[in-house]
Amino acid sequence: MNFCKRTHNCGELNIKNEGEKVTLNGWVSKTRDLGGLFFIDLRDRYGITQLKVLPENKEVYDIALRLGQEFVISASGNVIKRESINKNIPTGEIEIEVNEIEILNESEIPPFVIEDDVKAADDLRLKYRYLDLRRKILSDNLILRNWVYQIVHKYFEKHDFVEVETPVLMKSTPEGARDYLVPSRVHNGKFYALPQSPQLYKQILMVSGLDRYVQICKCFRDEDLRADRQPEFTQIDLEMSFVDQNDVFEILEGMFFEIWKDIKGIELPAGFRRMTYDEAMNKYGSDKPDLRIKGGMEIENISELVKGSDFKVFSDAAASGGIVAGIKLQSKEVTRKIIDGLTEFVKKSGFGGLGYLKFNEDGTVQSPIVKFLNEEITNNIKSTFSCAGGDTVFILSGEKMKVLQTLGQLRLRLAEDFDLIDETRYEFLWVIDFPLFRYEEEEKRFYAEHHVFTMPKDEYLKFLDSSDKDEIESIRANCYDLVLNGHEITSGSIRIHKPEIQKKVFSIIGLTDEEAKMKFGFILEAFKYGAPPHGGAAVGFDRVIAILCGLKSINDTIAFPKTLKASSLMDECPSEVATVQLDELGIELKKKK
Ligand code: AMO
Repeated sequence: MNFCKRTHNCGELNIKNEGEKVTLNGWVSKTRDLGGLFFIDLRDRYGITQLKVLPENKEVYDIALRLGQEFVISASGNVIKRESINKNIPTGEIEIEVNEIEILNESEIPPFVIEDDVKAADDLRLKYRYLDLRRKILSDNLILRNWVYQIVHKYFEKHDFVEVETPVLMKSTPEGARDYLVPSRVHNGKFYALPQSPQLYKQILMVSGLDRYVQICKCFRDEDLRADRQPEFTQIDLEMSFVDQNDVFEILEGMFFEIWKDIKGIELPAGFRRMTYDEAMNKYGSDKPDLRIKGGMEIENISELVKGSDFKVFSDAAASGGIVAGIKLQSKEVTRKIIDGLTEFVKKSGFGGLGYLKFNEDGTVQSPIVKFLNEEITNNIKSTFSCAGGDTVFILSGEKMKVLQTLGQLRLRLAEDFDLIDETRYEFLWVIDFPLFRYEEEEKRFYAEHHVFTMPKDEYLKFLDSSDKDEIESIRANCYDLVLNGHEITSGSIRIHKPEIQKKVFSIIGLTDEEAKMKFGFILEAFKYGAPPHGGAAVGFDRVIAILCGLKSINDTIAFPKTLKASSLMDECPSEVATVQLDELGIELKKKK
C-alpha cells in the first residue's frame, strides 16, 4: 500500500516555510465550505494546519467535498501566507494550497466532536477513549507524563539506583486495601495476588545487597475509588540501604527539583518544609495540609480561653476531655445563607451546629453564642485570631480529632468557596513523625498506621512493651508523607531491620508468631540473614502528573483509566469468562446475593 508520506507534521509549518511544496498526513478535524473555497483543518499529535482547496482544481475539490470528520488523508500543496491570521495556533500564519488529496481511510461519524472543550459525557469519552485521546489537551498530558518518566529514569541512574522489576504475581498479604486475586490453574484452589506495592520485594532487595533500588511500577488495590485513586496506578518506588530519613528526603527533593526545573522552569527550594503529624493535625486538621490558602487559616485551640463561659456546649466538651477550637475567615461577604450552608456541612460530621462570631466593622459582634461569652472572652477570641472588622471566627467543640478534622474540612471548603487558594504556588511539605499505630474502636485493636515494617522513633521504643493504650497510641514512627498543595504525593518510612522490634510490633497488632509466619514468613526468613538498616518511599506518579497538568483528577493522566466502579468502558472489563476457563481453574461461581 503506497501513499504519499508526510514531509512535515501538522504543527511545524510557519511563515518561514512559505513557498515550499509539502505533504501532510492527518485527521480531518473540521471542514468549511465557503461556496467558492473549501477549508480543511488537518490534525495530528503535533497540531493543526489549515488546508485550502480551490474549486478550479475540480478533481481535488470533489474529493474534499466527500471528506467527513476524522477521515485520514494525505494532502500535498504549497505553503502560502494566510489572509486572516490565527494567532492561537503556531501554524496560524500559513495555510496549504492543496493540489492533491488522497483519502487514506474513512471514518464513521464519531460519537462526539473532538475538541478541547469537549461536551460529551465522561462515560462516552471513556468508551471511545482512542477518540478522546485525539484531543490535544489530553494527549499533551500523556506527553508530559512521558517527559517526567524520562527525567526520573535519568535522575535515579545518575544517583546509582538500579531499576529492578519485581513480580506482578505474588503472595496475597492483604494489609491496607483488598488484594486483586488471580486464580492458579496449576494449583487449583490457590491464588496469586497482584501487588498493592512492591514493598516486600524492595526490602528483600536490600537484604540482597542491591543498596539502591527504584522502579516505576504498577500497583493494584481493590479499594473505594475517588478522583485521586485508581484501582491500578503507578508509583515511583524506591528503597535505600544504610540511610536515615534525611537521606531519603534528599534524594526525593532532588528528583522533584529536576522535574519542576525541566517541566515548569521553576527552582524549588533546596530543602522542603517539614512539619510533624501532630502539628499538621492541630493547625490544619489534616495530615495533608494545603499551605496555599491565603492568610494561612490555621486552627486555634481556644479551650482555655472559653473555660469561664456559660455556654453548655463548651463546658460539656471540656468535661468529656474534648476541645473548643476555631478558624477565621477573612471576608466581608459572610451572609446568613452562607452560614446556614456551612452549618449543614458540619452537621454531616455529626455536630449539632456551628458556632460563629462575626466581628462587624462598626465594632458590634454578630453571633448566636456571644450572649454566653463575657466581653473579656469575646475580646480574647478576637485577639487570638487577630480579627479585623468584617472577619468571622467559626467554632466547633467536641472530641478532639473530630473537631480538628471537621475544622480542617471547613477550612478547605471556605478556601474553595471564597477563592482563597493561590493556584500559582507549589507548596511541598514533609509531614513527619506519624503515629506507628491506629486504634480501631469498633474492633478494639491496633493496626499499623503505615505498614507493619515501619520503625518506631528511638525515644518511643520503650512503649513497645507497654500495655497502656495511650502509651501505645503515642508512639511516633520514622514515617513520612510528602504533601503537595494538599495532596499526599509520596509516602514512606525507615523500616524495622531488627527481629526483636518486629516481634513486638506484630504482638501489638495482635499477630501471633504463627500468623506472622504465614503472612510474612518469606521476608522474616530473609531478615535472618543480615538485613541492613534501610528505608524508602513511593511517589504517587499519577498524582504528581495531575498536579503538573493542573488537573483535579488523575484519570486524564492515564491513557486507559477505569471508572469509579473499577470498570473499563472501552474493553468492557471486568467481564464474564467461559465455563471452560473456570473449569480449568477449578472455580465454580456462587450466586452473589
Ligand atoms: P502508599 O500506600 O502510601 O505507600 O502509596 C504511596 C503513594 O501512592 C499514591 N497512591 C495512589 N495513587 C493513585 N491511586 C491509588 N489508589 C493510590 N494509592 C496510593 C499516593 C501515596 O502517597 N509501599 C508504600 C511506600 C513505602 O513505604 O515505601 C506504599 O505503597 O500518592
